Amino acid sequence: MFQVNGKPFLMLAGEVHNSNSSTLTAMQPVWRIAKELGMNSILLPVSWELIEPEEGKFDFGIVDGLIREARENGLRLGFLWFGTWKNAGCGYAPAWVKTDLKRFPRAQLVKGKNKCRIEMFYGIEYTTLSVFGEETCKADARAFAQLCKHIKTIDKQEHTVIYIQVENEAGLLGAAREYSDIADERFAGEVPADFAAAMRAHSATMREDIRKSVKNGKENGSWAEVYGDDAEEIFYTYHVAKYIDSVAAAGKAEYEIPMAVNVWLDQGGGPGAYPTGGPINKMLELWKICAPHIDLLTPDIYVQNFLEVCDQYTRLGDPLMIPETATHGYAGSRLVYVIGHYHALGFSPFGFEELGEVAFSAGGALLGMDETDPLLSIPQNVEEYRWYNETLASMMPMLTDAYGTGKLQAVISERPDENTLNFGVYRIGVNFESRFVSRRDGICLGLQITQDTFYFVINACALNVASNDETWPHVDYLDVEEGHFEEGKWVCDRRLNGDETGLMAFSKPALLRVRLYSYR
Ligand code: DGJ
Repeated sequence: MFQVNGKPFLMLAGEVHNSNSSTLTAMQPVWRIAKELGMNSILLPVSWELIEPEEGKFDFGIVDGLIREARENGLRLGFLWFGTWKNAGCGYAPAWVKTDLKRFPRAQLVKGKNKCRIEMFYGIEYTTLSVFGEETCKADARAFAQLCKHIKTIDKQEHTVIYIQVENEAGLLGAAREYSDIADERFAGEVPADFAAAMRAHSATMREDIRKSVKNGKENGSWAEVYGDDAEEIFYTYHVAKYIDSVAAAGKAEYEIPMAVNVWLDQGGGPGAYPTGGPINKMLELWKICAPHIDLLTPDIYVQNFLEVCDQYTRLGDPLMIPETATHGYAGSRLVYVIGHYHALGFSPFGFEELGEVAFSAGGALLGMDETDPLLSIPQNVEEYRWYNETLASMMPMLTDAYGTGKLQAVISERPDENTLNFGVYRIGVNFESRFVSRRDGICLGLQITQDTFYFVINACALNVASNDETWPHVDYLDVEEGHFEEGKWVCDRRLNGDETGLMAFSKPALLRVRLYSYR
């Protein structure tokens, strides 16, 4: 878990629009909005071009300003290192890198061509740095190390910066690998024996298609001999993971702070339709093998099957951190669910500056949102989002104490079949379709404090209680209070032992303290 002052800290965060952290002026409204949304932290880019405008000459003015203003606003930070890669491009590399193509070579989808044309994306053109640029990797790692060293100097006591993401949605669009001379030469070479052995050793958990490629090929030999049809993608992902790991290693040598890699998800279409090389689901094992300095592989989730992606990124027992997700009307219930169900480290809608507006617009398309997602037209209620953040923050030590145990559970209306919380003898049924509930973004987080005492963060559902114990078949409410926490102390705002307890149906967010009892 992330730590602040030696205590576990959940990032109830938002990620800023890319350009807003480029100046302190642009950040002014952003701090305010983050606080209005009850956030305790934000994620924001620090770009290579701004901190090293001339090779070897560093300017950390913007970093100092962001850390200072975060402190003044009572917010923690996650920094996003926009170095070699930003969404598979190199827009944030310094001018001295961009203009020296000899020293810092570009990726070539066609031999000899430094501009990539992507047929699968209607022939759009872009350019990006080559993963085989040894000088590029060294220069990026040097800059990143200086950044980490500087953060350590000014922040190791206060710990305003909680973690750093290394690069952003790295990889190669348009193909399964580069086709320059050096890329071809490497691809024709031998697969490193230790890597081939590690892949085989981890094949049991791999997605079916990759497992087959890993198990069916030769034990040693060229990439094509060892990995068959998936050779190009495995080869390229190996190089991207190793590259980013060496950047992370240089940073960690200066400052031991959690580091993450985010990912543009595989939404079908094969390598190149997503940037080849990132930690997509089928490459998670590979990334864990090749990037030991990376602590977290974090999915950017804009797709409709949000929960399925969360399952994928926890399937190896890793903690879940969501650095980017849509700001639409399910942002609030998903925030509560990932804390209650996945025991996530954090949740961070992207472009939170616009949370509350309809998420699909011209901008929505740019954000990679799926136009057919029916949720996009439902804006998130800002007041409720703030309430969720503030409520979760007020419960943080209790929640984190229960992480990794069955005392903290949640159900969500997006998974209507999973509608029961089981706490020992008590079974809490959660009805998302009750006729007494007027909305469908239902959520119920249950936290067991003693055998009979619970807190529920609840919205858009109705509760009923039952027994799991045949010898004590009847269960009922002893008492129910709606309230909030003040400095860790429960404050009752209403006692609900009348009509409300009869229905236990909620169409607005509520925090309940419930005591149950059983009898026979
Ligand atoms: C994913 C990227 O990681 C973000 O920086 C941002 O560009 C969003 N997409 C939305 O465009």
